[in-house]
Amino acid sequence: MSDAAKLDLGTQTVELPIIEGSEGEKAIDISALRSQTGFITIDPGYGNTGSCTSGITFLNGEVGILKYRGVPIEVLAERSNFLEVSYLLAHGGLPKKAELEHFSNGIKKHSHIPSEILDMVKCFPKTAHPMGVMSAITSALSGFNDQLLTSNVTDEQKEESMSILLGQLPVIAAAFYRHSQSKEFIPPREDLDYVSNFLNMLFGDDGYVVDPEVARALDILLILHGDHEQNCSASTVRMVGSSKANIFATISAGIDALWGPLHGGANQAVLEMLAAIQEDGGDYKKFLAKAKDKEDPFKLMGFGHRVYKNFDPRAKIIKSACDTILNKLGVKDPILDIAKGLEEQALVDKYFVDRKLYPNVDFYSGIIYKALGIPVNMFTVMFILGRIPGWFSQWKELIEDPKMRICRPRQIYTGNTTLNYSDIGER
Ligand code: SDX
Repeated sequence: MSDAAKLDLGTQTVELPIIEGSEGEKAIDISALRSQTGFITIDPGYGNTGSCTSGITFLNGEVGILKYRGVPIEVLAERSNFLEVSYLLAHGGLPKKAELEHFSNGIKKHSHIPSEILDMVKCFPKTAHPMGVMSAITSALSGFNDQLLTSNVTDEQKEESMSILLGQLPVIAAAFYRHSQSKEFIPPREDLDYVSNFLNMLFGDDGYVVDPEVARALDILLILHGDHEQNCSASTVRMVGSSKANIFATISAGIDALWGPLHGGANQAVLEMLAAIQEDGGDYKKFLAKAKDKEDPFKLMGFGHRVYKNFDPRAKIIKSACDTILNKLGVKDPILDIAKGLEEQALVDKYFVDRKLYPNVDFYSGIIYKALGIPVNMFTVMFILGRIPGWFSQWKELIEDPKMRICRPRQIYTGNTTLNYSDIGER
């Protein structure tokens, strides 16, 4: 393969370097295109555009491969835990025992939220969507961490930022959940592991004991949501972080991007869709027809993916975890049967087969969250908690790049070329 692409514009021909990644991905580097030719490229939705090189996550959508720092997601889901995976994503390697202990202790140390933050959480209407609360309060954390608002962040400040995010966001999420249920706040406990502590902050009323099977299922779900290269919210984090906005503003922006039903909000939308199918008598074929109808804006939530044109490897793991955890909990949820029927039908339907539409990470995750007792409007918050290490790692990689520039795409203007101004009385 040539190391440069030749672009013939008629009046001139330019050579553009070809770069190849460590997994064999290839790109044409167009960073000098405009200065050499006056042309830009255009790619609405960025389906063919790489925004960066990155060493954090590799995925191959054609084959269905996902690796964090080179470790296959299947291995991490089987053998690792969420805090170890968070360390791996942020630091690029697996921690030694002492390193993981230090990392975990830093998170515990930073998991106590200021009383003013708890007061802010309680100011929200109980019916507020928790994603709005998480975005607002994450940004508000900037008001309590002046020491981290410098535009040139030190390594110690990066570590402290990650500890605060991993320590405090679950507390804020659980605090709002308790508020929305008119229940007392349950503070974090340092004697519990990360996931058990979160479950206890959610459900820890008298007599509650964390079920280790439930905690492990949740730990696996958090691992599976850890990072996913340059998805919509990670790209938002890079966009905002490139202006040297502080980490709290940057992560808050990622939360807002994740909220959308085409992205992380899909896990809530899947449950709402399955419930609607159940409500409608369980006839999922009717909903498949709606999804295929071009006149109908309805999409089959939890299906399709910009990158995966094969099974999302995370969906496979979650689906098998679904069966295991529901059997262990003795939960017989008819919604799971509807989901399985819908999936079976879609996987053989020409419309979905032709477009390579497979179940994605959001298709089954909500069913497990529901079985674990987490309310539907908290599903996307669970996605936040899993994605914190991914967003942080993408931000860290961005600001550590000595060639970092502010993200500022161009456009092709298609509006009026001239419009004469007239006084309002003459219009
Ligand atoms: C996540 O990017 C990531 O990595 C995201 C994520 C992560 O970990 O960060 O993996 C998490 O966001 C998963 C995706 C969750 N979203 C959903 O489940 C929402 C439902 N899915 C669709 O909205 C859609 O598939 C997207 C948004 C996921 C992808 O959209 P694209 O890549 O822009 O694809 P498209 O809309 O251009 O679809 C191509 C064709 C179109 O039909 P034609 O115009 O060719 O006739 O497929 C059709 C679409 O109409 N199509 C669907 C469909 N998804 C695509 N038709 C019905 N139902 C669907 N779900």
